[in-house]
Amino acid sequence: MTDEKIEALISELTLQEKVDMIHGSEFFSTKGVERLGIPPFKTSDGPMGVRKDFKKDAWTDIGLSYDAVSYMPCNTALAATWNRELAYLAGRLLGKEARGRGKDMILAPGINIMRNPRCGRSFEYMGEDPYLTSELVVPLVKGIEENDVSSCVKHFALNNQETKRLEVNVEVSERALREIYLPAFEAAVKKGKAKGIMGAYNKLRGTHCCHHEYLLDKILREEWGFDGIVVSDWGGVHDTKEALMSSLDMEMSVTSDFDDYYLADPLIKMIESGEIDRETAVAKIDDKVRHILKVMNELRMLDGERKSGTYNDFNDKEALRRTARESVVLLKNDDGMLPLDKKKIKKLLVIGENANRMQALGGGSAEIKALYEITPLMGFNMILGGNTQVIYKPGYYNEDIGNIWAGTDDSENGQADSLNASPEPEKKVKDEEKAKRQKEKNAEYMADALSAAKDADAVIYVGGLTHDFDTEGQDRADMKLPYGQDELISKLLEVRPDTVVVMQVGSPVDMSAWVDKAKSLVCCWYAGMEGGAALAEVIFGDVNPSGRLPETFPVSENDCPSVVLGEFPGGDSVKYGEDIFVGYRYYDTYDVHTAFPFGYGLSYTDFVMTGLSANVVKNTKDRKRVEVKFSVSNIGSRAGAEVAQIYVADKLPKVKKAAKELKAFEKVYLEAGETKHITLELDESAFSYYDEENGGFKVDAGNYMVLLAKSAEEVVDIADVILK
Ligand code: GLC
Repeated sequence: MTDEKIEALISELTLQEKVDMIHGSEFFSTKGVERLGIPPFKTSDGPMGVRKDFKKDAWTDIGLSYDAVSYMPCNTALAATWNRELAYLAGRLLGKEARGRGKDMILAPGINIMRNPRCGRSFEYMGEDPYLTSELVVPLVKGIEENDVSSCVKHFALNNQETKRLEVNVEVSERALREIYLPAFEAAVKKGKAKGIMGAYNKLRGTHCCHHEYLLDKILREEWGFDGIVVSDWGGVHDTKEALMSSLDMEMSVTSDFDDYYLADPLIKMIESGEIDRETAVAKIDDKVRHILKVMNELRMLDGERKSGTYNDFNDKEALRRTARESVVLLKNDDGMLPLDKKKIKKLLVIGENANRMQALGGGSAEIKALYEITPLMGFNMILGGNTQVIYKPGYYNEDIGNIWAGTDDSENGQADSLNASPEPEKKVKDEEKAKRQKEKNAEYMADALSAAKDADAVIYVGGLTHDFDTEGQDRADMKLPYGQDELISKLLEVRPDTVVVMQVGSPVDMSAWVDKAKSLVCCWYAGMEGGAALAEVIFGDVNPSGRLPETFPVSENDCPSVVLGEFPGGDSVKYGEDIFVGYRYYDTYDVHTAFPFGYGLSYTDFVMTGLSANVVKNTKDRKRVEVKFSVSNIGSRAGAEVAQIYVADKLPKVKKAAKELKAFEKVYLEAGETKHITLELDESAFSYYDEENGGFKVDAGNYMVLLAKSAEEVVDIADVILK
């Protein structure tokens, strides 16, 4: 449909019809205009797959027999692959299944930067670095949108905590905003051509992000040229006039009084009463409708042949398995203990409730009704094929159902409640009773596990977190492992120092109580329906691990920059005092010891990277191009993949800068003995910083270092670059 036809359509719409298009008339859909052939706009969560269907006006699922879908690796798992192709495949699958489920917009991906490991939604995001997140969100969005489905990149912006998420006011410098928190959104819009953006719940500098003129009008629309749909987060709108006058297009919420939404009857009443000038209001409403019709047109909802999509396709399982495999991060492997040899294990003991837990239906709006989920225990049974006796002991007692939203007393789904969550007094009593049960049961479970550990040929421990901790709506109370795991793991390592310790997490945990005693340590994530199989393939050597940490694992939360220099979670306001020093930018610059650094991960083979050179091939005022060359060799005995990381450092910065920043990376797959010669390019963005005084990014002339690294703490080569 041409722009002219869209304008003609707008001119035929009544005011009521237009207003019906800019707010939810169901929890996940707006009203269409049947007489003019405008369909409803159907949305669905989320980042890990297409969420189950709910009733139109109640947070109870319909209980369909056909809305189970592919349960995909969480975004942190995807980020741990450092693989742009897998990001594209993830997007393509998510978009195809969204189309297959009849959706027009998938409310994904989440790309907020992790400024503190305790953020409950860290698992939905891609870690601590804006460049890594930018490089993965672009192919992901493209993959989604090639299916005639809109992405909805969220949460714009600065939704970096769950505590007081609806009202917390973020105080952040313009430089940190521009260098840390916005770049991935900018990449999604400018390079990914994203058609949807979701406003965040929180405030920025006193104004709610869902109707924030600076964020939405000045930055998103004017500076970045975004002409897609801005959707509010569900319940994120708090003022009719602000919502009307800002560049928000669609108000969604969690209550069924749809006609009372701010952009519904209250808007009409304000126009009719003259409280808002009719001409101004109509012009603003037309802008919103225009954005919506434009995206509908691009999705071929108004005319043309639209893709139909499918879901649960057998052929997609390989890509899911690949992503899960490549997301596993090998953190320790003393004496080459891993991989385990299937032939030598007749009796395998698997300890840890996470080995036997399905994680899909948890985490809040990212929950997934999975067609199936292979748990680690299933994966071990699959790969050992009955030739090994697999014994399972939970090891610790966990009565949590893994979904803090499910089954809350006064509503069948806590999403509505989560918007005004506050721990009720009686909940405290329940917690005390629960803690008592935990302690009693743990003693029994631990004794059982430790006694079984004595005569097993091998022991694998699978613990970590669940979606009772990695979840929307609340931040973790601390970085500690729940359910008394520290004591169990410590005692287990005394009995069996060769225990393979697996941490299944959605965010960093404090392992200081026992990590030095562990000879092998594997980090896996909520890696989707194939996650347990992929983990088994890595532990038993069918797959060589190639994951790298997308976020630092600090020794303890007290080391975190958001605690040392900033506030987390703050009060009614939260000061991002750490400024640009987020994640490794802090630990590296301030020389703070970490448990495991950003970009870190081991392999079952060995790599060397040599011959770094960096040459300035273009150096005009506006355009810089530096060509970086190096070689990567696999000097070990089996194929594998190295993630070559390129950081940039300013040797004599004129303003405060991080010691170094990630500005390029390449995942290099090599057969044993193979060498590849890599060439990467750095443009001016690799050397620029945001100049708060004059506004805008700039590059200072001077001496820079280009660093070739295996992680933020392991630089293998440095080349100098002079920019005039
Ligand atoms: C939630 C989340 C958002 C989700 C939306 C719809 O509260 O913040 O990520 O897409 O509401 O469920």
